[in-house]
Amino acid sequence: MRKYPVSKVYRLLEPGPVVLVTTRPKNGPPNVMTMGFHMVIQHDRPPLIGCIIGPWDHSYTALRDTGECVIAIPGADLAEKMVDIGNCSGQNTDKFTRFGFTQSKAKTVSAPLIADCLANIECHVSDTTMVERLSLWILEPRAAWISPDRPEQRTLHHRGDGTFTIDGPVINLQDRMILWKQFQD
Ligand SMILES: Cc1cc2nc3c(=O)[nH]c(=O)nc-3n(C[C@H](O)[C@H](O)[C@H](O)COP(=O)(O)O)c2cc1C
Repeated sequence: MRKYPVSKVYRLLEPGPVVLVTTRPKNGPPNVMTMGFHMVIQHDRPPLIGCIIGPWDHSYTALRDTGECVIAIPGADLAEKMVDIGNCSGQNTDKFTRFGFTQSKAKTVSAPLIADCLANIECHVSDTTMVERLSLWILEPRAAWISPDRPEQRTLHHRGDGTFTIDGPVINLQDRMILWKQFQD
């Protein structure tokens, strides 16, 4: 995995890939869940990400207790695993063992990186004021990693009903982005 600047993490998430979130519960093995509801809030200084992780998830308690998680972006090769991970709970399943992921040590959080994913974003909880009302967590990325050598670089996008799209062709309209040139380097 190669280091990736946190100031550019928005480029990993703005396209809206379905992601995995790892946590390290105080008691029990590290856990992973699937997440479709997330958004970039702020590019930089500091970068901020919003995401919905509800009390129905075992991950919620670990996130609340530790204030840390990793957002991992799976490639299309992990589609079935990603769905199955979101259809069972760490409360009664050791998901890292069941799904055979390779854990890797993070630099700034106790939750593990998933070496099998395209990117990993180490996050600290930055604001919990909307958690009780909306299950909305504000996260600050502190370190990020990418795996550009993985053969499958396409990401998955949940259409909300158990169907998914896979990344298609990229069109380049940078010459029309006249007000936003600072985001093209
Ligand atoms: C495609 C997909 C997207 C999901 N998106 C979210 C989400 O954005 N927020 C959430 O709290 N749960 C979401 N879930 C449900 C959790 O992944 C699911 O409750 C999971 O079992 C939680 O794992 P845990 O109990 O081990 O934390 C999603 C599930 C799937 C399959």
